[in-house]
Formats: sequence, C-alpha cells, structure tokens
Amino acid sequence: MFGNLFSGGVIKKALDKGLIKIQVHDLRDYTESKHKQVDDRPFGGGQGMVIKPEPIFSAVEKIRGRRDIPAYLLSPQGRKLDHCMAEELAREPRLILVCGRYEGVDERVIEHLVKGEISVGDYVLTGGEPAAWVIVDAVSRFIPGVVGKAESVKQESFIEGLYDFPQYTRPRDFRGMKVPDVLFSGDHVKIQEWRRRKALEKTWRFRPDMIEHKKLSSKDKKVLEEIRKERKSR
Ligand SMILES: C[S@@+](CC[C@H](N)C(=O)[O-])C[C@H]1O[C@@H](n2cnc3c(N)ncnc32)[C@H](O)[C@@H]1O
Repeated sequence: MFGNLFSGGVIKKALDKGLIKIQVHDLRDYTESKHKQVDDRPFGGGQGMVIKPEPIFSAVEKIRGRRDIPAYLLSPQGRKLDHCMAEELAREPRLILVCGRYEGVDERVIEHLVKGEISVGDYVLTGGEPAAWVIVDAVSRFIPGVVGKAESVKQESFIEGLYDFPQYTRPRDFRGMKVPDVLFSGDHVKIQEWRRRKALEKTWRFRPDMIEHKKLSSKDKKVLEEIRKERKSR
C-alpha cells in the first residue's frame, strides 16, 4: 500500500539526503500462524475481523529491540492530529505507527503496547495506511532541512494559531482576475499589514474557534473589528 508514496516530492528528497528513514513492516512477517493469518473473528460475535495482538506485539517488540521507541496506533478514536502534535512527534528520534484494518485491533494493543492512538480526522478510513502517510508527511516537515527554506515552515498556516495569508504569482492579471496592488507597492510594512489582515480574516471566517483561542494584540483586535464591520455592511 505504501508503494510509490515516498518516491516523489519533499519526502523522497529527505530520504535521499538521509534526513529521515521510513521502514514499512508487514504484520504477516511477524505471525507464527501457518497461513500467516493476522486477524480473527471478534469474541462475543459481530461483524468483521479483528487484528490479533500477537503479530502487532511481535512486530513492535522486534522493531524496538532494547530501544524505548514510542508506538502509536492509528485510530479514528485517537487524539486528533494537529500542527502541535506533528511538531511534538517530530521531536522523537524514532516512531512506530501501527496501522489497523478491518474492524480494528485487539484492545490489548491499546491497553498494553502503544503510547496512544492518533486520528487524522473524524471519519473512518478502511485502514491506517493513509493516516500513517499523513503523519509521516506532516511530521517530516518539522525535521530540520526537510523543507527547503526554513522560512516556509515558519510562515505556514497554524504556526501562529492563524491560517496562512493568500499567495499569488505570475501573471499579475489572469483572465481579468488581478493580484492585489499592495503586493507591488514595494512597501514592506504595508505588505505585512495586508498579509496579517488577510490571515486574520480567513481564520475568523472559516475557523472562528482558532481566533477564540488566540491571544490577539490590540492591533489585531482592531483589524478584526474592522473586518467584522466591513463584512456586516456587505
Ligand atoms: C475500518 S477502521 C476501524 C474502525 C473501528 N471499527 C471504529 O469504529 O473505530 C480500520 C482501521 O483504519 C484506521 N483508521 C480508520 N479511520 C481512521 C482515522 N480517522 N484516523 C486514523 N486511523 C484510522 C485504523 O487503524 C483502524 O483500525
């Protein structure tokens, strides 16, 4: 399932430079079962199959060896991945991500093996693999050198508890859709103010919860008030 996922883009470059290392393990290689069966029917009855504890415990223990590597289970019931969590995870020198399938995994994995569960959103995927990919991608961006210019990570959405400001490139006029004049003014203070205003506006419109939780400067508060009034009068 991970086939070509890491064979292009920023992640491939990071792998080539040796900044990160990704190892994919097949649970079937860690089962004693004759037919390499990793799942079984749920006790107590019910639909679907459950991944057995044995191959997951064996895989995680073998990979860990004597090292204390935190393992996380991908699960819709986990703590929801966000910017802060990705940054937190990037501080770990090594991580083990356990992907579930079918109806999920035996609860003993959650209770006794992993450090926690991570969800990539309030929806259910067919397996943990796409979630693992999302985590690898989001976490790798915090490894120094992975994202070209250090600045690009610093200015990203969420860094400051706000969305990123809008970006434009050539042409200046595309089918009558024009790039805001301020970006050609050469006045860096004005450009910064415009960008801040746009970031505040977008966050306020689409993620009011983020604004609520943010400590705003008196200048930001004033701008936000203007934006509110402007929107009301439209
Ligand atoms: C079909 S789901 C199992 C869902 C489970 N029966 C439940 O209701 O919580 C199969 C696997 O996909 C992964 N998965 C599904 N949704 C996910 C999400 N939102 N975030 C992370 N992993 C997810 C988990 O590893 C899960 O064990």
